Amino acid sequence: MNKNLSLFVLLSACGGTPKSSVKPPVFGDTGSGVETLPEVWGLATLEDHDPDPTVVELHFDAASAEIQWLEDGSASAFTYAGTIPGPLIQARVGDTIRAVFTNNLPEGEATTIHWHGLRIANDMDGVPAVQSPVQPGETFTYEFVVPDSGSYWYHPHVRTNVQLERGLYGAIVIHEEIDYALDKDRYFVIDDVRVDDDGDFAAVENLQGPDGVHGRHGNMLLINGEAEPLSDTVRPSGVERWRIVNTANARTMWVTVKGADWRVIAVDGPLLPQPYTADYLRVPVGRRFDLEVIAHGDADEVSLEIMLPGESAWNYYPMFVGSVEGEAGAGEQIDWKAPAIPPVTGVEQTTELELNVNSDTALEWTINGDTYAEADDIRVQHNVPGEVLITNLSAFEHPFHLHGQFFQVVERNGEPAEQPGWHDTVLVEGQDTLKLLTNWDNPGRWMAHCHILEHAELGMMREIVVE
Ligand code: C2O
Ligand code: CU
Repeated sequence: MNKNLSLFVLLSACGGTPKSSVKPPVFGDTGSGVETLPEVWGLATLEDHDPDPTVVELHFDAASAEIQWLEDGSASAFTYAGTIPGPLIQARVGDTIRAVFTNNLPEGEATTIHWHGLRIANDMDGVPAVQSPVQPGETFTYEFVVPDSGSYWYHPHVRTNVQLERGLYGAIVIHEEIDYALDKDRYFVIDDVRVDDDGDFAAVENLQGPDGVHGRHGNMLLINGEAEPLSDTVRPSGVERWRIVNTANARTMWVTVKGADWRVIAVDGPLLPQPYTADYLRVPVGRRFDLEVIAHGDADEVSLEIMLPGESAWNYYPMFVGSVEGEAGAGEQIDWKAPAIPPVTGVEQTTELELNVNSDTALEWTINGDTYAEADDIRVQHNVPGEVLITNLSAFEHPFHLHGQFFQVVERNGEPAEQPGWHDTVLVEGQDTLKLLTNWDNPGRWMAHCHILEHAELGMMREIVVE
């Protein structure tokens, strides 16, 4: 790998050289008597402890670990099952996932696991509003049925800005009923972390500073936990599925693919009835995009690149580089058998959310004028379709996330929002007005919050009770 490609060039304030530490990914299912799921490239997997082919039972913990991204030092990180990201959790739509989870974190680090985007039973949503956080030394079993296919992820919902930054996050793939003929199915988990000269996490600063305003931006990009680009071979005209999630605390990643024809086949979970093409994607924190990528037959390389604005131009950081070689693949777009997305009709309730900042005495991020600590629940009726009107009174962007429900984004600033599909997270830009529609079909107490974790920590979060 050409050293010029080092992602670490992002870091100006930091010395040291990147350590080449790309480990071979672990593939496949090591259980026996379990259903064979398609392989997903790029992430560690765990043994399925339940022989029932419709139940996936994984045992893992969260614990401290030293992770070496720089030659000269290591980071005191938190890991799920010893790795960053944590192990890939995969199942088929309709299966049951049972996660027997032990908190082996240090004293004082209670935690939970939230299954971001999955529309599961409320008591398994992994937030302190529905369960007591798992204390160090304790075990908690999460068990739920997965209703929708697609790419999801998991992370804590306690001191999230700290625990997620330090490494507690992992990817989830819920396979469709059909297995499509793919050359490769890859998951790319993109993160940025802020490390100091010793390669350790820079202190979590006082949120009353710039971190509270913009969220914590990292100085090192990671892909599947590595500070160096991943590499593999890709067949010429091979047809691949690339899943992307942005697990950073705050930074919206701009993403593009070079050396291939590509289109978006799914967003935030289920397949889109109508895939679409784009030159680049804006991937706010929390959101997932699934791409169909067909390597140009005459390309030397296919790459996944992060675009970040520089002083006077865009900087491109290759995160995955596939050298194009081997026998030619099919080269044809797949007929993704996605069901139509029914419009939300018969809207009978309205929820208004005004996002704002308040810096009178201390920096606070508010919804309808209040921080999470000050606010009452918002109540809506179960199974009564509703609109959610978001008005961003601040000049800052907020990737807004709703637990437990899917929504459609129908209007942005009074114009039709060309944003097809079901979503669980939407980027609300400075001063934007958005209209979302949802069926409110999953009862319970659900969090709604900005996914810039420092904004959520400083108040931009609510509980919505669907009753
Ligand atoms: Cu991914 Cu409440 O969060
Ligand atoms: Cu925000």
